[in-house]
Amino acid sequence: MPPTDHPSLRAIREEHATLAAVLRALLHLADEGPGDRPEGYFDTLRAMLFYIDEFPERQHHPKESDLLFPRIARLAPDTMEVIGQLEREHIDGEAEVRALQHRLLAWELLGEPRRADFVHAARRYVEFYLEHMRLEEVVLLPIACELLGPQDWAVLDAAFAAQVDPLGADRDPAYDRLFTRIAQRAPKALAAGVQAGLAWRTPAAEAASAGSMKP
Ligand SMILES: [Fe+2]
Ligand SMILES: [Fe+2]
Repeated sequence: MPPTDHPSLRAIREEHATLAAVLRALLHLADEGPGDRPEGYFDTLRAMLFYIDEFPERQHHPKESDLLFPRIARLAPDTMEVIGQLEREHIDGEAEVRALQHRLLAWELLGEPRRADFVHAARRYVEFYLEHMRLEEVVLLPIACELLGPQDWAVLDAAFAAQVDPLGADRDPAYDRLFTRIAQRAPKALAAGVQAGLAWRTPAAEAASAGSMKP
């Protein structure tokens, strides 16, 4: 199996892509504003924030914190600092996204004067979370590919596979249903989010990263 193609790594990268699409769609929608449909508009933003709050906390961060990070830290003690930072960000991010939910409510209930506060905080949060994922993909995953051995990957891939839904979906179907709902409510914003992609995943960057990994 190529060093970058383990099911556990693929799952993390796919979840990053999904989260990035929703994060960017949130900003796209915030910039557009409610127009003449404030009720549906705020419902959609709320669904996006709920997804961004719930999905990483329950589905994504535990896999990183409990399974992947400890193995990397054991084999590469000099990564302890960056892993410590990422762990703190998992905790801080949860508080941030809840503060964002409060700011959205303030805009919805108190009106236009509170809009700039939400948009500004949302932009800051999206930048923060994109940088968090970039650090994981650009700094930590290549180290994992370089240092983890077949036994580590066997354990990781088995643990990730154990989280597979019995019906064949690779994550809790409730989150997929929520994602579909968001896509139906804000198709243009989500398409823009998907298209924006992840800046560090250019073909050149991917090739350079793969080239630096041991076969
Ligand atoms: Fe993370
Ligand atoms: Fe992550």
